Amino acid sequence: MPVLSYHDICDWETRFILGDRIDEINFWKTIADLYLGDILELGAGTGCFTIPLIKSGFNVWALDNSAAALQKLKSKADAIADGGELKIIEADMRHLELGRKFSLCLATYSTFQYLLNSEDQYKCLKTINDHLPLGGTLCLDLDNDIIHPPQNLPLSRLYSSYNTPLKVDIIMFTAWNTDISLNIRHWQDHYQVRYNNGSISEFTNNISLKQISLKEITDLLTKSGFYILNTFGDYDFSNFSSESHRLIVVAQKIPN
Ligand SMILES: C[S@@+](CC[C@H](N)C(=O)[O-])C[C@H]1O[C@@H](n2cnc3c(N)ncnc32)[C@H](O)[C@@H]1O
Repeated sequence: MPVLSYHDICDWETRFILGDRIDEINFWKTIADLYLGDILELGAGTGCFTIPLIKSGFNVWALDNSAAALQKLKSKADAIADGGELKIIEADMRHLELGRKFSLCLATYSTFQYLLNSEDQYKCLKTINDHLPLGGTLCLDLDNDIIHPPQNLPLSRLYSSYNTPLKVDIIMFTAWNTDISLNIRHWQDHYQVRYNNGSISEFTNNISLKQISLKEITDLLTKSGFYILNTFGDYDFSNFSSESHRLIVVAQKIPN
């Protein structure tokens, strides 16, 4: 059995923690139905939303800076017989040169929060703006709950579970620390994989995400040529409030 990495278990773990994500999938399908046309999806990862969108007939350019995640997405897409067109692009969402425009750009599930300072956030919004026509739509899904207490968590066991497809036990530990002055949380996720034959392998996956307030994202969007059409607090299109777990922003490109 080859030594595993995070992307080998990413879909399994996401399903284990977040379930089937059907509310999220339906949310993105509704957004795609409302703002018809070709879609640029940033942070597509292994394709949790790309695949349902393609299957529903939408054309998607799926972009991510992780080659390993995109490889998983490609193997899932190869198994789809019909549906919309898919183009997979390995690129950094701060620097896009795609040579065309899209009706709709999606940054799903906290993708935009991987950008840890306002310069990178601005670069990303500006390059998205360049890839939309006037009136084109951007939808950002932000986690509004990133820096919930405690501020720091020592390495703690989060779960231990049998991964049936891979036939291994996976024990996952997480630790985090929070930079309150920057509103950034840094996670260190540590995985222990126990094989049938008694051997054990380990790997880590580190992630840092930045909390963004409605005021900050409004200022950034305004500066980069967008007007906010709507904000939602969850995938059921409920109104956003400061208590909401998500901050979903729908914005439109306006003339400079
Ligand atoms: C939270 S995951 C979302 C994945 C998928 N959309 C989902 O919800 O399961 C964020 C994704 O953004 C990608 N990402 C982070 N920084 C990026 C960057 N600068 N450019 C492109 N993709 C980036 C990561 O590789 C990761 O796949």
